[in-house]
Amino acid sequence: MKLDEIDLGTLDLWDGPIDQRNEAFARLREERPIAFFEEPEPESDLVVRGPGFWSLTRHRDVVEASRHADLFCSGQGTSILDMPPFLSEFLGSMINMDDPRHARLRRIVSKAFTPRTLAGLSGDVEAQAAEIVDAVAAQGECDFVTEVAALLPLRVIVDLMGIPRSQEREIFDCTNRLLGFLDPEYVPEQTAEAVLVAIMQAAQDLASIVTELAGHRSQNPANDLITVLLNAEVDDDKLTHEELASFFILLVVAGNETTRNAIAHGLDAFTQHPDQLARWQADFEGLAPTAVEEIVRWSSPVQHFRRTVTRDGVRLGDHEFNEGDKVVLWYGSANRDAAVFDDPDGFDIGRTPNDHVGFGGPGPHFCLGAHLARREITVVYRELFRRLPDIHAVGPPDRLRSNFINGIKHLPVAFTPTA
Ligand code: HEM
Repeated sequence: MKLDEIDLGTLDLWDGPIDQRNEAFARLREERPIAFFEEPEPESDLVVRGPGFWSLTRHRDVVEASRHADLFCSGQGTSILDMPPFLSEFLGSMINMDDPRHARLRRIVSKAFTPRTLAGLSGDVEAQAAEIVDAVAAQGECDFVTEVAALLPLRVIVDLMGIPRSQEREIFDCTNRLLGFLDPEYVPEQTAEAVLVAIMQAAQDLASIVTELAGHRSQNPANDLITVLLNAEVDDDKLTHEELASFFILLVVAGNETTRNAIAHGLDAFTQHPDQLARWQADFEGLAPTAVEEIVRWSSPVQHFRRTVTRDGVRLGDHEFNEGDKVVLWYGSANRDAAVFDDPDGFDIGRTPNDHVGFGGPGPHFCLGAHLARREITVVYRELFRRLPDIHAVGPPDRLRSNFINGIKHLPVAFTPTA
């Protein structure tokens, strides 16, 4: 592929084979690490065509931009295409905010998100993983995504929040529509209007679930995250009900779609690299911390987030930006940067050091759920190796159509059935 033919402004690269995409990012890192792309012509007058965006593909630049949130801000949106400001905040909560509002919200919710608070809340990741693996163990085969990988993060959040299991399926469908809106499997009518309606409806449904529950919990506190969030106070400051609803939308979307794909890509990677599977199975606890980081680096479930330059003259290397420039941080590309990772396309579960940016670069927006995600990935693989040690993919992953989430919708797997 010629350098000038690479276009990150369309989904063409994501519709093609994965090797071609990896090759395109490798060329950009090498030859045009800060590259400009036009935004696509919108299909509807509901959306205005934006000014285009600069793409950061090298690890060094992604880290630098993440560190300087005052120069590369999130408050003007973190998706490549602009959303109306009310929608951006409704859907994105603090991920689409800058200080001081971001710091205030993050301070309040961080109180509920310490490992100790999470461990003391209802729900137990080990028991949830055991229940999920149990449900497929006798079958000898399953769709690994819908029956295992997607279920664990979903159930963890649903149980943590104190949401009844009867609403689990609805939440699953809403998050699929919110992040998979460009995929006809989730939003069959692919016009701009239909996509916008689907996104709004899914967000409204999630907001209603949490608002109704919050109303109940304010009268009847329970041992769940909703009660903790309702009561979390910093300097006499609490979350409003609107803030709680938006934070919940962020939480279910950020917590579900990402961890699910790390787990699913992990299984695909172990099928392609049986030596790494054998290595981990021989020393599960010893290798778990590095294996989990390598799964996240290798899969990079979140491909990018966007920033906006806050003033003229901001520099990265030789490049000078102008105020208002959109800048996209390609985390998946940074995680394959040969300047930082030996054999970047290799899958090495003992990789040390592993300074990946799969959970975001260093800075105020670093993933709030990173420790929860690490725990879920560890626990599900421990359970799988214990119960179904020969589990492997028997077909190629059915990929999500998205340049934001590196998603797998379905992955057929087989294993020796157990009672
Ligand atoms: C493997 C799994 C996960 C990956 C790869 C991942 C990735 C990311 C990334 C790249 C960001 C940075 C956003 C930015 O640069 O603007 C982020 C932020 C965030 N993540 Fe995660 N995430 C994962 C799991 C989770 C889980 C399990 C939760 C919660 C249950 C969660 C909640 C959040 C929240 C709330 C933020 C926003 C933080 C802020 O803006 O201050 N994530 N995540």
